[in-house]
Amino acid sequence: MCGIVGILGSEPVAERLLDGLKRLEYRGYDSAGICTIHDDQFDRRRAPGKLKNLAQRLSENPLPGLAGIAHTRWATHGAPTEDNAHPHIVGEVVIVHNGIIENFKPLRDALIAEGREFYSQTDTEVVAHLIAREIESGAEPRAALAAVLPKLHGAFALGVMVRTHPDLLLGARLGAPLTVGYGEGENYLGSDALALAPLTQRIAYLEEGDWVAITRESVEVYDRENNLVERPIVNSGASGQLIDKGNHRHFMQKEIYEQPVVVAQTLRSYLRPLESRVALPDMDFDLSSVERVVIVACGTASYVGMIGKYWVEQLARVPVEVDVASEFRYRDPVLLPNTLGIVISQSGETADTLAALRHMRSAGVVTAGIINVPTSSMAREVDLLLPTHAGPEIGVASTKAFTCQLAVMAALATNLARAKGRLEGEADVVRQLQQVPEAMSQALSHDAEIEAMAPKIAVARDVLYLGRGPEYPLALEGALKLKEISYIHAEGYASGEMKHGPIALIDDQVPLIVIAPSGPLFDKTVSNMQEAQARGAQVVLISDAEGIAQAGENAIATIEMPTVHSLIAPLVYAVPVQLLAYHVAVAKGTDVDQPRNLAKSVTVE
Ligand code: G6P
Repeated sequence: MCGIVGILGSEPVAERLLDGLKRLEYRGYDSAGICTIHDDQFDRRRAPGKLKNLAQRLSENPLPGLAGIAHTRWATHGAPTEDNAHPHIVGEVVIVHNGIIENFKPLRDALIAEGREFYSQTDTEVVAHLIAREIESGAEPRAALAAVLPKLHGAFALGVMVRTHPDLLLGARLGAPLTVGYGEGENYLGSDALALAPLTQRIAYLEEGDWVAITRESVEVYDRENNLVERPIVNSGASGQLIDKGNHRHFMQKEIYEQPVVVAQTLRSYLRPLESRVALPDMDFDLSSVERVVIVACGTASYVGMIGKYWVEQLARVPVEVDVASEFRYRDPVLLPNTLGIVISQSGETADTLAALRHMRSAGVVTAGIINVPTSSMAREVDLLLPTHAGPEIGVASTKAFTCQLAVMAALATNLARAKGRLEGEADVVRQLQQVPEAMSQALSHDAEIEAMAPKIAVARDVLYLGRGPEYPLALEGALKLKEISYIHAEGYASGEMKHGPIALIDDQVPLIVIAPSGPLFDKTVSNMQEAQARGAQVVLISDAEGIAQAGENAIATIEMPTVHSLIAPLVYAVPVQLLAYHVAVAKGTDVDQPRNLAKSVTVE
């Protein structure tokens, strides 16, 4: 979602701000802007659309200045026009904002009643007016910000400058991440460490409710009670190099191909092959006391939770409830004693998942987090961090984070099963998990076939995905992936549900992607597939050699996966599902890495 970069520099900042915005592009945005202070005046360039439009404006009309703030905006209030693009200037104040001010309407109405004029439709402009009003009545910039913050409800990260104080950069966070970067004679503000990586590796992560006053020589952090506090400076370890696509056409393709390596990397931190053991990091609670599990996540990560439900219930016989975070937080969930709450998130910042985590913690539930960004808010707040080691995921549609999350979920399910005294054959589980990277590589070797069949799917208006057992959530993931990046309407169903409605949609124009490894459930899925075929469905069967030999005859295409144990099948079958969505999107010519309207890190509800 929105991205923030601020620099109080000893050299001109505009190009460096633009570079920082490029590093935040992956979050998803639809307009961008930069404002500097030069000769005691604000100077600003903004542009709707991609950063190249802003870069063009900057090259036609460069921005001087040693201090500035910059922003990529993902529209919430008002269309992605130049007028709505940040930074917003009101009087002496310029501001950039990530998040949503939920009470903006009454604040705006009151400001208008005072005679103040608004020129944008954004909630952000309200904050600019409030700070400007404090300054007009004589407040110092720090005091003005501190006076306004308690009036704001919602989630925000803010970057603020005041024209008459060109040596001061202010920031604040509540519910959206913000970091401070420490340089030599310069200091910075950024949405994440990645944005600041070419400038500095020395980073402090602001805590909830913090606000910060930055000069070139000093950084003062205050908590929400305005006490001066210390936030540790850590080495971010983020690479200053712009992450590139290597030999790949898109980040998504690169990330699909990275999976054997990053899943192996993730598994390495959980598998102890010499001891035939699947291990977890040390924890200060007893897994054997867990009597139920509640898993909460959003989007692709929620499908990991659904697959986790099959695994945990099967292996550990502990009941599992899975919820999308946006529903969980408002339905007053029943949280009984001895519940383990699990959140799953690539970014560790998704607003609904973070809120669900806080809800569980405040109800006394012990929490674990399967999280890819170790410095994220969720990673810092869970009781037990179970990291994935997928590396930065840039494509908006999640791929490698998904399979790494599955690897960790398998490790967690195995540990829970052992703690419950139900695990048989741990050595076999270790062996199966060790085979995942190789099996994924074999799955990737079918890329050219999948690419060849993509044009047939690309002309469809609707696509259905079917799966049973742990392959049912994979069907949901396949459909989500396809709609996210190709804009084709797609739905995933549990195979057995086919005849309870979706079969009415079937005709010879509707491709049906069937995800069915051979095994005890195979025949049942094949029956459902045949019912659809009898009505003209164009079946693509993803199965192994045995399954394809048995049921592939009337399919328009088959994709043969290696024969794998049912535990690891979702990790392996994820690959063709991702590749199919990828190639269909490429065939349709969509913006694969930054699909329309989507954001990578959804920091608003
Ligand atoms: C967005 C992304 C999805 C992701 C979801 C949850 O919608 O586009 O790819 O699955 O958020 O994100 P998280 O960072 O919590 O895994």
